[in-house]
Amino acid sequence: MEPLREAGMFGKRTNFGQSAPAQRVSPPAEPRPTAATAQPSAAPANERAPAPQVAPPAAVAAEIRPRTEEYYQTKATIFGALIEAIDLSQLSKMDSESAREEIRDIVNEIIAIKNVVMSIAEQEELLDDICNDVLGYGPLEPLLSRDDIADIMVNGPARTFIEVGGKIQLTNIRFKDNQQLMNICQRIVSQVGRRVDESSPICDARLLDGSRVNVIAPPLAIDGAALTIRKFRKDKLTLDQLVRYNTISPAGAEILKVIGRVRCNAVISGGTGSGKTTLLNCLTRYIDDDERIITCEDAAELQLQQAHVVRLETRPPNLEGQGAVTMRDLVKNCLRMRPERIIVGEVRGPEAFDLLQAMNTGHDGSMGTLHANSPRECLSRIESMITMGGFALPSRTIREMIVSSIDVIIQASRLRDGSRRITHITEVMGMEGDVIITQDLLVYEMRGEDANGRILGVHRGTGIGRPRFWERARYYNEENRLAAALDEIDLKDEVLN
Ligand SMILES: Nc1ncnc2c1ncn2[C@@H]1O[C@H](COP(=O)(O)OP(=O)(O)OP(=O)(O)O)[C@@H](O)[C@H]1O
Ligand SMILES: [Mg+2]
Repeated sequence: MEPLREAGMFGKRTNFGQSAPAQRVSPPAEPRPTAATAQPSAAPANERAPAPQVAPPAAVAAEIRPRTEEYYQTKATIFGALIEAIDLSQLSKMDSESAREEIRDIVNEIIAIKNVVMSIAEQEELLDDICNDVLGYGPLEPLLSRDDIADIMVNGPARTFIEVGGKIQLTNIRFKDNQQLMNICQRIVSQVGRRVDESSPICDARLLDGSRVNVIAPPLAIDGAALTIRKFRKDKLTLDQLVRYNTISPAGAEILKVIGRVRCNAVISGGTGSGKTTLLNCLTRYIDDDERIITCEDAAELQLQQAHVVRLETRPPNLEGQGAVTMRDLVKNCLRMRPERIIVGEVRGPEAFDLLQAMNTGHDGSMGTLHANSPRECLSRIESMITMGGFALPSRTIREMIVSSIDVIIQASRLRDGSRRITHITEVMGMEGDVIITQDLLVYEMRGEDANGRILGVHRGTGIGRPRFWERARYYNEENRLAAALDEIDLKDEVLN
């Protein structure tokens, strides 16, 4: 950068600074997101049709140019001048559009006065970056405004990855240093009344739009703060969309609808990012409108459509290590709130015991998700969560409890091509000796891959005519629908998807 220019250029720049903002404020208002937001209903990768809406890595690189050291120096100079020139308290009273305009005007003037040499494109980038730093989440803003991104993963200031269409890719997003990254993390978590620094370096939070955030700061994160954001999807996926993306076959989806409607106790099991929460959200759509539902989550992600919902969220301890409210506390408290269904966003500890008890004591149709790679593993995880929770129960008793509470396990998977599939709908049948017996109603079988490396397979029935929840389906007048779906998964010619 050349900090000062010839006097002759000064006038030109000043002129530019005074006249330009009015025209330039609006067109580039969301310049980078446009590529992505042009197709807001970006289809996930496992849709069969080619998915042009998924931005290829090159597009990311083109959208966000790498910032040079020189650029950061220029920005720091201008930023310093801006902070002196603006009244931050006034700015905070403005709506974000007017605040952006105000900052742009002042920055344009500073650029002119200081005679900074920049192309118009660079100047636009600088204006955006500074507005994002002052008003938003800095370099993360262009990623946050894209609808096709599922996850943003910041590994220290120099490396940021995103997941688009089931695939992880590196971006050119860079933070100036760890301090800038930490400031942004702090800004994010402080909005939900939390803090993150060296003394409390782990923090869960939520963005105002509902995106789930986790921060782990140095010294625990060795190479700079690690920030993970599960982007909130405004257009939550529905079961019909999951059918279109081949996550489940149409008949399989019908079975899931019946499971949701007839108050089966269901556990959704799957690996990280396999679509468990999405699936749970889909299932809750089939709950009747007049049921009283209580949801317990670490960070509220579920979006229930029903009118009668109470949403609860856990709370970490304060600085003195007090005031924590755990998932177990919430689930236990739920029982005193006259729930008809209890929904636990993610079961990961001793609350498994309370959820099973709730399922067992008249709160039929309760649901939760759990990290496990198969229905079998899901059962043993529940058992070990209860054992590790300090309940001195013999394992046979725990298994009996599992058998009498859980009706169905739905297994979700993210396959190696990035697509998500429901791989099992499995019923918990009973005990034989000390072993829990299960029965698959539907399984997904992989059969190969196509020329583009997409996995091909088939959702297949297993010949079960009368699942254990048949009587339940009859009680809710859903047995015809269930019978038709079961016939279809068994008889239909196999269609690879
Ligand atoms: N069937 C699907 N097809 C395509 N994309 C999906 C599907 N299910 C979920 N997704 C997307 O994948 C991402 C992860 O989904 P979700 O949050 O449901 O996963 P999860 O298993 O709950 O993850 P975690 O273990 O982190 O809680 C989301 O962005 C979601 O929109
Ligand atoms: Mg989840």
